[in-house]
Amino acid sequence: MTQYVAAIDQGTTSTRCMIFDHSGRVVAVDQKEHEQIFPKAGWVEHDAKEIWQNARQVAAGALARADLSNSDIVAVGITNQRETALVWDRTTGEPVYNAIVWQDTRTDRIVTELGNRGGGQERYRDKVGLPLATYFSGPKVRWILDNVEGAREKAEAGDLMFGNMDTWVLWNMTGGVNGGVHVTDPTNASRTMLMDLDTLQWDEEIAADMGIPMSMLPEIRSSSEVYGQVRERGALAGVPIAGILGDQQAATFGQACLSPGEAKNTYGTGNFMLLNTGTEKVMSENGLLTTICYKIGESAPVYALEGSIAVTGSLVQWLRDNLGMISSAAEIERHARSVEDNGGAYFVPAFSGLFAPYWRSDARGAIVGLTRFVNKGHLARAVLEATAFQTREVLDAMNADSGVDLKALKVDGGMVVNELLMQFQADILGVPVIRPVVNETTALGAAYAAGLAVGFWKSEDDIRQNWAEDKKWEPQMDDARRESEYKNWKKAVSKTFDWVE
Ligand code: G3P
Repeated sequence: MTQYVAAIDQGTTSTRCMIFDHSGRVVAVDQKEHEQIFPKAGWVEHDAKEIWQNARQVAAGALARADLSNSDIVAVGITNQRETALVWDRTTGEPVYNAIVWQDTRTDRIVTELGNRGGGQERYRDKVGLPLATYFSGPKVRWILDNVEGAREKAEAGDLMFGNMDTWVLWNMTGGVNGGVHVTDPTNASRTMLMDLDTLQWDEEIAADMGIPMSMLPEIRSSSEVYGQVRERGALAGVPIAGILGDQQAATFGQACLSPGEAKNTYGTGNFMLLNTGTEKVMSENGLLTTICYKIGESAPVYALEGSIAVTGSLVQWLRDNLGMISSAAEIERHARSVEDNGGAYFVPAFSGLFAPYWRSDARGAIVGLTRFVNKGHLARAVLEATAFQTREVLDAMNADSGVDLKALKVDGGMVVNELLMQFQADILGVPVIRPVVNETTALGAAYAAGLAVGFWKSEDDIRQNWAEDKKWEPQMDDARRESEYKNWKKAVSKTFDWVE
């Protein structure tokens, strides 16, 4: 009997379930978008109950599409938008507040205040590999405890649980209030600012500094092991849940970046480039994050350097939803192709401040270089080019930190179907850009983690063998033009600072 592995990918804009066969081929997909809640400028929330319902529905949907049942699935893996923080009641299972999304900047003051106690933005860097920034979960939990009536008292009494979306989905799948498993993996834990990168345990001092009771925190297990069985009466009833990886680490795994020096770049809501640095933890001096790449069962943890960019694909959505300039994301390439170049316009989408390599929460978006000459096509190009320029900044930092120049970049995610962007990306980086046959690397990576734990895939060599190249873009731009474009971009970035006191 042919068997399969399922993955639930709880992303920023949607939740998906994908079913894979042994060769890593996609057998079925189901997907549901959830509401993006923007209560104020800079705030972004999700309804965690809507997300859980969507997860159940897409699991049922994907199985139905493939005409499979739970007995055909040997394991399920979970992958998720990282950093998005949720606090819920242990007894009722009710969230005390919406999930605060990774893009949300409301913790600006908390972050500044923590830095002012000494050490500034680098206060916790040695232990957690991250700069103090609104991006990470810890300060978001602190905000909930400070601002939701009664939450702090309940948390101190041990009545509340914290989790990122992996933990929330896992807890519900394994029974919720009826004995749900309260667990996370080191890739997700490494994005909270609360986990020590050497011990892979929560750091009590940092938790105390942020005013977060230890009793709220999930147990940190590995990224690949059986955490429990699906206990609720859904489509996957009884299936072991055997893998958890934050979505960017999952994509790194799915891209088979399993040796030190291998990197991938995912083009999603934001862009995230991860470089596998092996069992060695490399501290960044150029604005990157040091993070856990994966930990398979009892094996030593593998580390990564990461360049996180907050806004890339979501800029195209913004053009569609907020400006109505295009009616579908696919339309942007058509507009961009109607012109030769950007006409002198540069768009810096600092909607959540700027992440890597700047970490400036005071930055806000800007379009510069405008003249009467600039039309819709030029702006469409400037939007796409923003993704490529931001990626160049991250790649430069990666090369500087690692001391080795990347010779090529593996890419995946929604925007890599955009041929114009991929060619421009290769042009601006000056190295080839390579897309794999299976572009669904995030879900695939989570499926691999789960499948390895139950012996469906025997070793990482199986994963390497499943990877195949689909298309490669070679750089075509001359050096002088590449450097003058990049210089203009840097000038545009410098206009976005100091917008928030
Ligand atoms: O760190 C945020 C990241 O995990 C979100 O990824 O693909 O949901 O935009 P994505």
